[in-house]
Amino acid sequence: MNTTHARQRLVIGNWKMNGSLAANAALLQAVRAGSEAQAGCQVAVCVPFPYLAQAQAQLSGGTVSWGAQDVSVHASGAYTGEVSAGMLNDFACRWVLVGHSERRSYHAETDEQVALKAAVALQAGLTPVVCIGETLQQQEAGETAQVISRQLGPVLALGAQSVSRMVIAYEPVWAIGTGRTATPEQAQAVHALVRQALEALGVGQVQVLYGGSVKASNAASLFAMPDIDGALVGGAALVADEFLGIVAA
Ligand code: PGA
Repeated sequence: MNTTHARQRLVIGNWKMNGSLAANAALLQAVRAGSEAQAGCQVAVCVPFPYLAQAQAQLSGGTVSWGAQDVSVHASGAYTGEVSAGMLNDFACRWVLVGHSERRSYHAETDEQVALKAAVALQAGLTPVVCIGETLQQQEAGETAQVISRQLGPVLALGAQSVSRMVIAYEPVWAIGTGRTATPEQAQAVHALVRQALEALGVGQVQVLYGGSVKASNAASLFAMPDIDGALVGGAALVADEFLGIVAA
């Protein structure tokens, strides 16, 4: 464990579209109990909308916080299927993921929409976790830096006051759910770019998480990198021991 790290450690589980009332009950209980002893690390879970009430009921009063995986840019109205930031507040959410690569690719979310979602979340008092990352094709074409900078553009344009209250998650699309983790050095190289952009804006304390096939077995080497402040965890967040292993790292 690196105790000299400048920013607080943060590990967020992204359950994606997984779970059931019965399975969640055991998982939430185990995560709550297992995180209590890890004072050096903030722990959170982002669950499907229908399970926010369950997360609130089971996690209230403990050290693990919870959130959602998306938010509408609208406050209310005729937007069938969408969920507003105010509704997330009704369930005491602390976090909301915005711009996850699965939202960008399956729901055609643009960089501008992602930035707007981040702004709407902030306005409601939620902390947006802004996800960025390049595809395999873009990585192979040597476009990683360009893609990251393009995705961050509209977000950084919200200004230092807004960005200082966000979390950024770098998730190379080619490493998500594939078992192919970026090497710590590969991830660090991109995190350093993100960090530079944040520092240029004067918001050096923003946490930057890495995501993409993070497991208990590779977390420590990723967290040893100077600009990796924690992880956004998909598959491994569904298995209590794996998730708690990452938290312990
Ligand atoms: P993974 O997903 O850990 O299953 O690769 C990470 C994410 O998509 O947030």
